[in-house]
Amino acid sequence: MHVRCLGTAAGGGYPQWNCACDSCASARVCGRSARQVGFAVSGDRVHWWLLNVSVDVVQQLNYCPELAPGPGVRDTPVVGVLLTDAELDHVGGLLELRQTGQLTIAGATPVLDLVERDLHLGTTLEAYCSVRWVRLPEGKPVPLDDRLTVTAVPVGHKRPRYVRTAPREDQHAACVTALLLHDQRSCTDVLYAPTLPAWSRVFAAVAADADAVFVDGTFWHESEIAKTRAAVSGRRRANTMGHLPMTGTGGSLERLAQLKAPVKAYVHLNNTNPTWEAASVESRALAGNGVIVATEGMAWHF
Ligand code: MLT
Ligand code: MN
Ligand code: ZN
Repeated sequence: MHVRCLGTAAGGGYPQWNCACDSCASARVCGRSARQVGFAVSGDRVHWWLLNVSVDVVQQLNYCPELAPGPGVRDTPVVGVLLTDAELDHVGGLLELRQTGQLTIAGATPVLDLVERDLHLGTTLEAYCSVRWVRLPEGKPVPLDDRLTVTAVPVGHKRPRYVRTAPREDQHAACVTALLLHDQRSCTDVLYAPTLPAWSRVFAAVAADADAVFVDGTFWHESEIAKTRAAVSGRRRANTMGHLPMTGTGGSLERLAQLKAPVKAYVHLNNTNPTWEAASVESRALAGNGVIVATEGMAWHF
């Protein structure tokens, strides 16, 4: 299995276009930047699945040589999109892919329901290309090709802020999932969880056996977003936003440190996270626990 990081910033990117916090200001001065989070995964290095698609997807595809079009004039190695959830920064790029002939979009049923019914992306996209929806049952592997399978692991039920309607069926439907990619030939497992509200028992069991774990790194600390203007009006904290912070009681860093996986990496970093700064004390704490921040261009082969 081949895994490529296409970007690692949470919604808004890094630096965030309207943010003058210390971290974004220092990024502008030092020329640091990151596109919004996205990954690509392949069993044969020819056909690639995108793990979520941000609005940065076109630049990400153009930047990555393995994802360049061909051999036919309108052929693309991108065979489809696998969605962990329906947050805007994870699905915003679906509209950017409308030039394709056929688009396969796979995700757990509650995730696809949000994309189709609440965002109306189904009817909009289907006016431009043929869309194949693949509904992933919770906890059951579904073949992607003759080598890879994907399993949707339920991790949360917080609905995106754009949802205005009352929950239709089950208000505890898992509209936040992690995706477990399994390579049947090399027998390797890659766990992708860019939105992780809690380190649940179900998630812990899957993570314990994985060879690579890519986890929600939105916040270093529960209340770090309180330092920005957004929080003054909204009183938003990591917990209410559905992101387990790296530190604090039960934080993700101590959990990751205990895993045997050779690859442990954070993705979906918010612009306020001090681990953007490689020389920070916080970044040294990650390194000390064998954890990295995934950055655009990084590749892993299992
Ligand atoms: C999140 O990661 O919590 C969302 O992307 C936040 C948002 O809606 O901007
Ligand atoms: Mn997000
Ligand atoms: Zn900022």
